[in-house]
Amino acid sequence: MVLKNHKHELCNDIFVIDANFETPLGSQTMIKITEKQIKTNRLNLRHFSREDLETHSAIMGDNQIARWFPKGDSYTRKELEKSLNNILSHWMEYGFGLWAITKKENDQIIGRCGLNYILESSEVELDFIISRNYWNHGYATEASEAVIYYGFKILYLDRIIALSKPENIASRRVIEKIGMKYIGNVQYWNVPCVKYEMPRTDYTRHSLI
Ligand SMILES: CC(C)(COP(=O)(O)OP(=O)(O)OC[C@H]1O[C@@H](n2cnc3c(N)ncnc32)[C@H](O)[C@@H]1OP(=O)(O)O)[C@@H](O)C(=O)NCCC(=O)NCCS
Repeated sequence: MVLKNHKHELCNDIFVIDANFETPLGSQTMIKITEKQIKTNRLNLRHFSREDLETHSAIMGDNQIARWFPKGDSYTRKELEKSLNNILSHWMEYGFGLWAITKKENDQIIGRCGLNYILESSEVELDFIISRNYWNHGYATEASEAVIYYGFKILYLDRIIALSKPENIASRRVIEKIGMKYIGNVQYWNVPCVKYEMPRTDYTRHSLI
């Protein structure tokens, strides 16, 4: 990954990072990171608020999405409320978490992407969901690249992992496209998963900071 036009300013607001870089697949992409947002070529990643409950629930409530999460079945209203509460409290506790994904042209949420701390294993995992109407436009890949960048360049994480049910081809494809390496079949939360990881040393080897 080659970083171009890189500007890193430790200022109170305005831009923290404003950069153009090349992805592992060789495409050009841009990223602008501020305290509360990440902007990419087509997307805006912003914090969730309680007002996003209906939209987040509609996306998570889709069986074609819920089936890929540990429960493997549709969520109850209570579980959907808890899911958004968990996103908000994760940010409070760890200072990072999941962003709402919107397209740049409006504030309509089309998915979520971010980093989740797994308490049981002390690992940080990449999480992503795109609403079904927007699948296969490269949005999960674009958001994930930005989140990985954030994880290594802003949070200085040592390692980021990604987990997927083995038969979730689209999810595995996204994980592989962003350059994570398959390390094995494992169990998390009593669910069989494929595990991928990227250490910071691998990431920074391909980029400048
Ligand atoms: C996984 C998910 C986020 C992908 O979102 P997306 O925006 O469509 O992803 P992208 O467009 O960036 O990439 C999808 C890739 O999977 C490929 N793909 C999708 N379905 C596929 C299938 N059935 N067989 C083979 N490849 C498939 C696409 O062709 C694309 O690869 P390409 O760029 O090489 O053509 C979306 O499908 C989703 O929300 N699924 C449900 C939730 C989920 O599984 N989250 C991950 C939990 S671990």
